[in-house]
Amino acid sequence: MSTEMISFLTQLARNPLAVGAVAPSSVPLAERITATIPRTGQPLVVELGPGTGSFTRMIQQRLAGQGRHLAVEINPTFADLLAQRHPEVDVLKADAGSLGRLLAERNLPRAEVIVSGLPWAVFSEQKQREILVAVVAALADDGAFTTFAYQHARWAPPARRLQRMLRELFEEVVVGGTVWANLPPAVVYHCRRPIRQPAAVSS
Ligand SMILES: C[S@@+](CC[C@H](N)C(=O)[O-])C[C@H]1O[C@@H](n2cnc3c(N)ncnc32)[C@H](O)[C@@H]1O
Repeated sequence: MSTEMISFLTQLARNPLAVGAVAPSSVPLAERITATIPRTGQPLVVELGPGTGSFTRMIQQRLAGQGRHLAVEINPTFADLLAQRHPEVDVLKADAGSLGRLLAERNLPRAEVIVSGLPWAVFSEQKQREILVAVVAALADDGAFTTFAYQHARWAPPARRLQRMLRELFEEVVVGGTVWANLPPAVVYHCRRPIRQPAAVSS
């Protein structure tokens, strides 16, 4: 068994809710979710909830040495493993909800692409909104945000709430076909044209 799988199973046993998956995502799902990463230019790509790195590897392949890749992971064991495996990635031990601060501290502009592996179904409504509002604020006007949900749980309240919020916060939300070669099968949401919250007007 690989070090990654041992690390995944250990963290899953310790805190199943925070990990929120029974296995790392498959290569077909990683291909689908990273398809929005441009192969040219110097894009800034932000990855939320990289875990043991299923999407990280694919993002690095697509970037092929160009651009910049930030990975925001709340679990210190996963973050350390990832930083060791991928020295070319800026791995930040932090909550995805603090994305705005993380970019500002590094004087970085809005990201061209944000990819999420976060376990939305285990988040409260407040946490889902906090992170999605941070994503919308951190995404370039012509940027793309991709995330996924497990097919079997798509009609459960947390997943329906996520879909509603995505449609509220993005002008375009396209639901991809089911990726059956994933455990469990999953669907990818491709979101574009973020709708920014109007700034509060002080009197
Ligand atoms: C379902 S796993 C996905 C891992 C990987 N992206 C994949 O698809 O195989 C979810 C990951 O999100 C991380 N996570 C959960 N809540 C987070 C948060 N608020 N901020 C950053 N990472 C978080 C977990 O520690 C875990 O590594």
